[in-house]
Amino acid sequence: MDKLIIEGGRELHGKVTVSGAKNAALPLLAATLIAPGDHILHNVPDLRDTRTMLKVMETLGAVWERNGTTIWVNTTNLTGAEAPYELVKTMRASVLVLGPLLAREGYARVSLPGGCAIGARPINFHLRGFEQLGVETTLTSGYVEASVKENLRGSVVYFDTPSVTGTENILMASVTAKGTTIIKNAAREPEVGNLIDMLNLMGAEIMGRDSDFLTVNGVDNLKPVETTIMPDRIETGTYIIAVAATGGDVEIEGCNPSHLPSLVEKMRNAGVHIEAGESSFTVKGNGLRSVDIRTMPYPGFPTDLQAQFMALMCFAEGVSVIHETIFENRFMHVAELQRMGADIKVDGATAIIKGKKREEICGAQVMATDLRASASLVIAALAAQGKTEISRIYHLERGYENMVEKLQKLGAVINKVRE
Ligand code: EPU
Repeated sequence: MDKLIIEGGRELHGKVTVSGAKNAALPLLAATLIAPGDHILHNVPDLRDTRTMLKVMETLGAVWERNGTTIWVNTTNLTGAEAPYELVKTMRASVLVLGPLLAREGYARVSLPGGCAIGARPINFHLRGFEQLGVETTLTSGYVEASVKENLRGSVVYFDTPSVTGTENILMASVTAKGTTIIKNAAREPEVGNLIDMLNLMGAEIMGRDSDFLTVNGVDNLKPVETTIMPDRIETGTYIIAVAATGGDVEIEGCNPSHLPSLVEKMRNAGVHIEAGESSFTVKGNGLRSVDIRTMPYPGFPTDLQAQFMALMCFAEGVSVIHETIFENRFMHVAELQRMGADIKVDGATAIIKGKKREEICGAQVMATDLRASASLVIAALAAQGKTEISRIYHLERGYENMVEKLQKLGAVINKVRE
């Protein structure tokens, strides 16, 4: 297993380019299954999770080839309709093939993802939504079997809380349903917008992009397309926070600044100098003040940046209160940050962080527990004094493309070594 060795206490300087968004690439790859033929997707990050999605698609009969950041996918002949446990257990977003398979084949068998490091994460909203569209679902031997009874038919689907992949699955199942589907309390994350743009380009009729009320007029069929994955807003935010934590002056290029409204506001409140260009941010780290955050569905503060923001607050002046409202177990990084000397108290879904001086937080041996927790440890290690060893970094490789190389280019002393 690989681990990271980081010598902290160095400022970051220079330019870094953001990759395509993992959480947009996954549904957009899955969407190619709806329309038989040749699809071309640009700006697809090469990550453990995108590779897993391509493996799932291969088991269904798709053929693909990567050339740089462009992926050609042919979905003419589907030979299966099953996403096996071996793949779903490594990436729960494999359930995103359910919607496309129901639209194309009228049947899908997908392993039910178990709980994960950040919470139980059920898929009951997805299944209830499919049932509204005329799908029968049963659970046998750990697998969800979903079959369309007669036709997929338009209906009203309401989410108790906005679900990102739930909204994406229902959108993909409803584009070729008979009649009109209304999705109420839909997720408004930009990744959903990226999927809507792709589906509309394929010939779908989806209205209400960026709102929580989506209308889908079913069409007879969709056609293959060429399209581009949006920049990764969570990777962008991770680098913004890293610069704020270490100090320095960095230009983050190839991003969409309008996708991070809440983070930008919080960074300014924390005293960080941040300027947005058309497709870039310039960040200058200096004195840090504590600020509070509450994670919320978009455009609220993203849960996927909570752990990284907590690492930052460990170095801020004052006391910060962080409230996690999306996942019930997303404080796994706390115990590791405490090993580095951070002063954090957790009470249920609330963490209280008393900021310390940079020299009071020291490198240590820590363990990555999930993707974003790993990023938070990297940030803490970059800003802390001395050497940190982070083990189990395969989590990091699920969602950050070339993070070690990108940070090295900014002047960080970070190396991957075999354990
Ligand atoms: N929920 C249910 N039932 C469902 C679906 C969701 O109770 O059927 C609950 C969840 O447990 C959670 C809330 O609804 O409390 C919202 O979860 P959501 O469904 O939006 O999460 P997701 O679609 O499974 C995506 C991202 C996550 C990100 C969340 C929240 C992808 C592939 N994954 O997950 O990304 O944290 O939205 O924004 O898009 C990550 O990249 O590190 C990551 C975990």
